[in-house]
Amino acid sequence: MDGPAASGKGTLAAGLAAHYRLPHLDTGLLYRAVGRAVRNHVDAPDFEARAIAAARALDAAHLAVPDELTTAEAGVLASRVAVVAEVRQAMRQYQRDFAHQPGGAVLDGRDIGTVVCPDADVKLFIVADARARTERRARQFEARGHRVNREALYAQIEERDARDRNNPHGGFYPADDAHLLDTTQLDIEAALRAAIAIVDGAMARKEKP
Ligand code: DC
Repeated sequence: MDGPAASGKGTLAAGLAAHYRLPHLDTGLLYRAVGRAVRNHVDAPDFEARAIAAARALDAAHLAVPDELTTAEAGVLASRVAVVAEVRQAMRQYQRDFAHQPGGAVLDGRDIGTVVCPDADVKLFIVADARARTERRARQFEARGHRVNREALYAQIEERDARDRNNPHGGFYPADDAHLLDTTQLDIEAALRAAIAIVDGAMARKEKP
């Protein structure tokens, strides 16, 4: 499953994983963990080299701090390290191994359908209007007790969209065989029902002789 920041793909991927009883990997967390590891070196000349070293040293233990990894700042840092080709390369095998475990898995990110799992059984590409995504993210932060400046958040989402879309190493576009799902007008239950219908339909077609 791929899609832009705050498109709902994380919640949808977790929902699909629960529905089909599959393990789930939020690959954005990998980039966030690397970004966090180099947060004090953003303006340093060796920023890229540090990010590459952090990506190569990453293991599951670094992902065990979700609250710090899900802040808006961590998202911006993640998008900075995600433009480094060697960072992406270092994390590709980890993601592929997760995807190829017996019984399968659900992964969400930006390049899952295009680069990490080009042979996935089902690919979903989630889209949603940037204003709707801003509102959803704002409510998430508010639920955690944070004050939110919606205009600043909107600007940040647009900035991250642009960086992700223009990432020359990103693979952030729908694969030819991806199913598009626009969640702008859907609440999470409706979006999950739509995603399940897509997966069930795709699997039924695959299983036909
Ligand atoms: O999905 P997210 O907001 O947690 O992603 C954080 C950043 O990581 C995002 O700006 C793009 C990058 N990312 C990526 O380039 N490839 C992925 N598979 C997942 C995330």
